[in-house]
Amino acid sequence: MDYNKKSVTDIEVRGKKVLLRCDFNVPMAKDGSGVITDDKRIRAALPTIQYLLEQNAAVIACSHMGKPKGEWKPELSMTPVAARLSELLGKEVILAKDIVGEDAQAKAAALQPGQILLLENLRYDKGETKNNPDFAKALADLAGADGVYVSDAFGTVHRAHASTAGVAAYLPAVSGFLIQKELDVIGGALAAPKRPLVAILGGSKVSSKIGVINNLLEIADTIIIGGGMAYTFSAAQGGKVGNSLLEEDWKEYSLEMLQKAKDKGVKLLLPVDTVVADKFAPDANSQVVDAGQIPDGWEGLDIGPKTVELYCNAVADAGTVIWNGPMGVFEFEKFAVGTKAVAEALSKTDAITIIGGGDSAAAVQQLGYADKMTHISTGGGASLEFMEGKVLPGIACLQDK
Ligand code: 3PG
Repeated sequence: MDYNKKSVTDIEVRGKKVLLRCDFNVPMAKDGSGVITDDKRIRAALPTIQYLLEQNAAVIACSHMGKPKGEWKPELSMTPVAARLSELLGKEVILAKDIVGEDAQAKAAALQPGQILLLENLRYDKGETKNNPDFAKALADLAGADGVYVSDAFGTVHRAHASTAGVAAYLPAVSGFLIQKELDVIGGALAAPKRPLVAILGGSKVSSKIGVINNLLEIADTIIIGGGMAYTFSAAQGGKVGNSLLEEDWKEYSLEMLQKAKDKGVKLLLPVDTVVADKFAPDANSQVVDAGQIPDGWEGLDIGPKTVELYCNAVADAGTVIWNGPMGVFEFEKFAVGTKAVAEALSKTDAITIIGGGDSAAAVQQLGYADKMTHISTGGGASLEFMEGKVLPGIACLQDK
């Protein structure tokens, strides 16, 4: 895929109406109080919004929140996002009561240069996820004939939705600074990495990382496997995995990946020891056993100390490290040791360190290493699909440079 896309500085936006797709899909408190528990994604959109406002553009921002599937669910309203965005910008954020209805149309028409309007949750309309052309056109029409579309919703570029892809058929489409940064850093690491390139892949399932393992085997010098998916590799090689996570159907694939690594001359590292627990709980009894020797009734919840040493050494002299997926159940302190050690090793290396979004980003943040990394992606599924080498519809639709 060609990542050489025009950005907001490659197009005239001064005085224009700009439809800006953001990813304001932020986590909210579970008690329905409307409190945003992590505003990282709102902050990440600020540079583009501020630039547009400085250019005297009238900004019509839009985003989805959750998966309301066309239903008007009040707990998924953009109201709290408008309030937080307004605090962060230090200026009023006008909130439309609908998406492309009467209220949004009137407010968009009256919007003055330097003002910002936020539309309601895009997924309140089924046309959004269906990439309905009429809905996409109605969104584009809010910006008017002279309007521009700027996409800065990196977390959503793997979705071919009306606001992420369809709308580009009706307006000149460019990226914002956030997407530009994600493309530069992740795209750069995939296309021309500073070597050696070490990829650390963890998380629970082989099945969710197939594409990434396969693609990174073409690019990386070393691949490190941790987390729950290591047990499928172990079982495929005849190891005993007790009650650990196991995907029977993916054992064959794991063997194929081991063979592919050999054929390509890629070093593929698997755990040599494992911290096992007698139940899946923060206060479980634990012991360290050799990989492939997990007793019946026990399950692996973290990599063991010898594996920690092996993995940290592999990272120490890397040129680039891409990390996607934790090494163990880091949510339980007792089983966060492996993930923490890897995060610490990354914080100490001189390598370019890139953290895929989702769980790995959460782990690095929770463990206090976030500011030591070169780049933490704002995309979960999006960064994964990017690393899989897939075409991302939300990028493909933007104008080439
Ligand atoms: C995310 O949270 O990963 C993005 O906002 C995309 O959300 P989605 O998985 O509901 O499309």
